[in-house]
Amino acid sequence: MNHHSHHSHHSHHDHDHDPEHNAMNHHSHHSHHDHDPDHHPATTTVTLAQGREIFRQCVPQLPHTFYYELVAHICNISYSDAKSPTLQGTISLNLATLEAHVQRLKQGTPLHHITGTCNFYGYDFMVSPSVLIPRGETEILVHHALTALQRLHKQHNDPITVLDLCTGSGCIALTILLEAMGSTPSIPVRVMGVDISADALGVAHQNALNFGVRVADATHYSTGATGSTGATGATGSTGAPPKVSPLTLVLGDALAPHHLGIPRSHIVVCNPPYICAQEYSCLPLSTLHEPKIALTPPSGRGDEFYATIIPLLPMILVDGTGEAFFELPHNTRFTATSTATATPIQLGVDGLLSVLRKFSPVSPPDGSSSIVSPENFSSIWQHTTLTYRVYADFNGTPRVLHLVLGSQYKQ
Ligand SMILES: C[S@@+](CC[C@H](N)C(=O)[O-])C[C@H]1O[C@@H](n2cnc3c(N)ncnc32)[C@H](O)[C@@H]1O
Repeated sequence: MNHHSHHSHHSHHDHDHDPEHNAMNHHSHHSHHDHDPDHHPATTTVTLAQGREIFRQCVPQLPHTFYYELVAHICNISYSDAKSPTLQGTISLNLATLEAHVQRLKQGTPLHHITGTCNFYGYDFMVSPSVLIPRGETEILVHHALTALQRLHKQHNDPITVLDLCTGSGCIALTILLEAMGSTPSIPVRVMGVDISADALGVAHQNALNFGVRVADATHYSTGATGSTGATGATGSTGAPPKVSPLTLVLGDALAPHHLGIPRSHIVVCNPPYICAQEYSCLPLSTLHEPKIALTPPSGRGDEFYATIIPLLPMILVDGTGEAFFELPHNTRFTATSTATATPIQLGVDGLLSVLRKFSPVSPPDGSSSIVSPENFSSIWQHTTLTYRVYADFNGTPRVLHLVLGSQYKQ
């Protein structure tokens, strides 16, 4: 059952120096029932089929897909090889390594902290405990932002500027960038990611490098007036192709985006921390391994980022055509315009409006008035099951807010 140890399936890296990946040998472990973590030799191996049974017994609550992802990581093979029926009896893996990883899963370590990567929108992002693990629901937010990007591109000659507030791993910013650059014909974009965590920005930076995306940090950012730094290169004076760093990473507070000193953007995307304190304590163990700052605002109020950022949109979006995209808590309910239905957990459009109603007016730095009040929200439309559009009137300038219901953070 364990005779073909020295396979070479899609080996991307040389792991000879890495004991974790040195999993193959000829000693078969015949039964998972009699294994004792402390007493089998370090060289003992099991087939993928045997390993799956061990996995099932130790962490029955986790789906088999987790096992295949784990195996792909341990053996440095593709996911499809890890689940290939023909390889279940032929590939073997080190039992001690499997058990160590399963133990970590049992203790709540997220799978993606073990594998170090997470697929988002078809791209493999590096993740660490410093960033939120990208969630599938956020792909919907990206999808809608990309649709707007296409539309805005048809209306503008200049590159479309995208501001990703709370960028974390950079999954939203980089996906938009990569999709825009990869579309036919490619769409010129400038993307900026803002995060308050330097460690998170480090992961975003590494992800950019992994995708071959050049990064400028905020200190290099130029509005294009001088064109000397090459960060935006929007001079257009020499006729030479501008030296564009498509991604700019900014260490800063998304709750004060108008103080970041960055130009207005065509598109603002934001997946903020939105778990309220009450819900945070009910999150599953694996989610508690992720940074608290990524999940819940310091105030403990799930609506803090929306309540703060939405009224500031007139100061950070370009006039007229700019659009904003927010991920909202999954349990947001859009109901009639009575505030009575809003519960402390649900944000609700009612909740959203009541928050805005309570809001003390924001004074923009330039002294102009850009206060949003509930009367500015002309209508709220359900666009798809998960997405809503709010037509808002900011001082006579109509704006569209796209609201996408997000993750339950159950995994
Ligand atoms: C829900 S995560 C989103 C990460 C990523 N954009 C995604 O969708 O997977 C929220 C991110 O906001 C960052 N953050 C928290 N408070 C912030 C603040 N006041 N200003 C900027 N970023 C903040 C956290 O560090 C975290 O990376």
